[in-house]
Amino acid sequence: MNIVLFGAQGSGKGTQAEKLVATFHCHHISSGDIFRDAFEDGSELGRVAHSYIERGELVPDDITVEMMLQRITQPDIARAGFILDGFPRTIAQAKALDEGLAKLGREIDCSVYLDVPRAELIKRLSGRYICKAHQHVYNVRTNPPKVAGICDIDGSELYQRTDDQGSAIEKRLDIFFSETIQLLDYYRAQNKLLHIDGNRDIDEVSADLIEKLKKYLSR
Ligand code: AP5
Ligand code: MG
Repeated sequence: MNIVLFGAQGSGKGTQAEKLVATFHCHHISSGDIFRDAFEDGSELGRVAHSYIERGELVPDDITVEMMLQRITQPDIARAGFILDGFPRTIAQAKALDEGLAKLGREIDCSVYLDVPRAELIKRLSGRYICKAHQHVYNVRTNPPKVAGICDIDGSELYQRTDDQGSAIEKRLDIFFSETIQLLDYYRAQNKLLHIDGNRDIDEVSADLIEKLKKYLSR
């Protein structure tokens, strides 16, 4: 199964993707995680992407599409299926994704929109910490680690993303609610949209999401 998970910054894409992978045993592919890994590795892609990310802006479509299609079309990933987290984020990216998959005889099965109001998003982002080793996600208020500052899963140190500080948060949300939100119409027109109320406890959201997704995929 091939799923697109989209929602504003802080809506819980990364958090819910981890839960979906545990249930559906497919790959979690996060464009933001790939860009951050590339920056840590000191690659040219990482350096270019970082300059956009720290300003809270989108990385240009051509760079993003090439990187993501390269990943998605790897044989093991195409075979097991994937959950896309953070990609596509523009109509141009969504079209390029559909075209890239069509060349492999594949398609997106379902697009999930995690709906969370703006005021709640700002609260969540300012309390988020992620781990250095694998970018596992925590929140000082709603989802704290067992030991402060340390990842429960791999023991690595937790840190705050630079784009979760200062004016970048508002800029990212503005881009989402003016541009990325257009994906709602794009996937609705394809009859592939699942709307999920993301403004509930993490476990409540995942139980509802998994149940609705199972029902949707067995139609
Ligand atoms: P990316 O890393 O994708 O960041 P984002 O879109 O800003 O999304 P977030 O990771 O901030 O939010 P999330 O929905 O994953 O929420 P999370 O689960 O962490 O992208 C970073 C940057 O890369 C972009 O700004 C852009 O520059 C670039 N980029 C990436 N993809 C691109 C593309 N396709 N095109 C162009 N540029 C691209 O949860 C947030 C917090 O809330 C956590 O602390 C969590 O513990 C907590 N939480 C989660 N769910 C709940 C809940 N139900 N209740 C309470 N707390 C919760
Ligand atoms: Mg994320």
